[in-house]
Amino acid sequence: MNSPTQIQLIQPDDWHLHIRDGEVMKDVLADTARQFARAIIMPNLKPPVTTVELAKAYQSRIKSNLKLLGISSFIPLMTLYLTDNTSADEVRKAKAEGIIGFKLYPAGATTNSDAGVSDIKRCHQALEAMQAVGMPLLVHGEVTSADIDIFDREVVFIDTVLESLRKDFPELKIVFEHITTKQAAQYVRDASTGGKNTIAATITPQHLLMNRNAIFAGGIRPHNYCLPVLKREEHRVALLEAATSGSARFFLGTDSAPHAKGAKEAACGCAGCYSAFNALGLYAEAFESVAKLDRLEGFASFFGPDFYSLPRNGKTITLVKQAQSIPAQLPLGDATIVPLRAGETIAWSLI
Ligand code: DOR
Ligand code: ZN
Repeated sequence: MNSPTQIQLIQPDDWHLHIRDGEVMKDVLADTARQFARAIIMPNLKPPVTTVELAKAYQSRIKSNLKLLGISSFIPLMTLYLTDNTSADEVRKAKAEGIIGFKLYPAGATTNSDAGVSDIKRCHQALEAMQAVGMPLLVHGEVTSADIDIFDREVVFIDTVLESLRKDFPELKIVFEHITTKQAAQYVRDASTGGKNTIAATITPQHLLMNRNAIFAGGIRPHNYCLPVLKREEHRVALLEAATSGSARFFLGTDSAPHAKGAKEAACGCAGCYSAFNALGLYAEAFESVAKLDRLEGFASFFGPDFYSLPRNGKTITLVKQAQSIPAQLPLGDATIVPLRAGETIAWSLI
């Protein structure tokens, strides 16, 4: 069968997104809202979004920026940053106020995670409350010990944290965010949940399209560096197989994480790939590479809202097989940002 040159999808959502704050937010929001109807907004600001009050204030800054952009249809879904001190009361309040989930950053795992959880045991009461009220836990699944090789941190997290977390809180809804290994894909695929909707994973476009060679191709490539770091080819293949398998446990989350060009091209560059500019084109390219474009709609538009018990979107969008040049850089407030695949072309564009 010939590969299609046009595909229509129910409009997708991005279930894992960083839009930052202040001046830069408007620029990155515009890219996301062009493609997605809703996005889960990550709370790792400085200072982090640890309370309902802070999340509401952040949400109203997002809404002001959407208004300035003339966008009325995009919905930001807010999260809170879990800390050692998050109370059960804050969890119940968050549920009542429409917060969509709590984000677990093991302290020191990634950008602005210093205030994260030092030991998951300290969060027992908050996790119990989350389980009781049906509040999902969104997990950055890496251990942080310097003794553990950076390429092994996700797999060690499964064995030393995730497995016991799921045993202790069997009804807690967990999203294993931005998975990067075949072990994570297998774990999520095979996890027994007693028929309940308690585990899922998001997958980024960069982990479907690139392996770790991309960080070192002909020299160091800071714009391909993110956390969890890209892994070997066998892992990319396993992630692509999971994303295109039709399993409702895997869905779209770009983890698009903007950092200004200067902060990436530095002696100690920040982690994060900026994929928001044409994320859907990137995902289409990945699905097409294994002749599974027919599975893109489930992954991008159905399984996320189904997991979060939200309605699927009503509108449709159309992707065409028409090469799109990705600019070398884009404006980011007063600075610039280098998008994923800068200076190259992507085979698919949004009409
Ligand atoms: O590469 C990453 N960048 N991974 C994360 O987990 C955080 C993100 C960011 O906020 O920059
Ligand atoms: Zn993230």
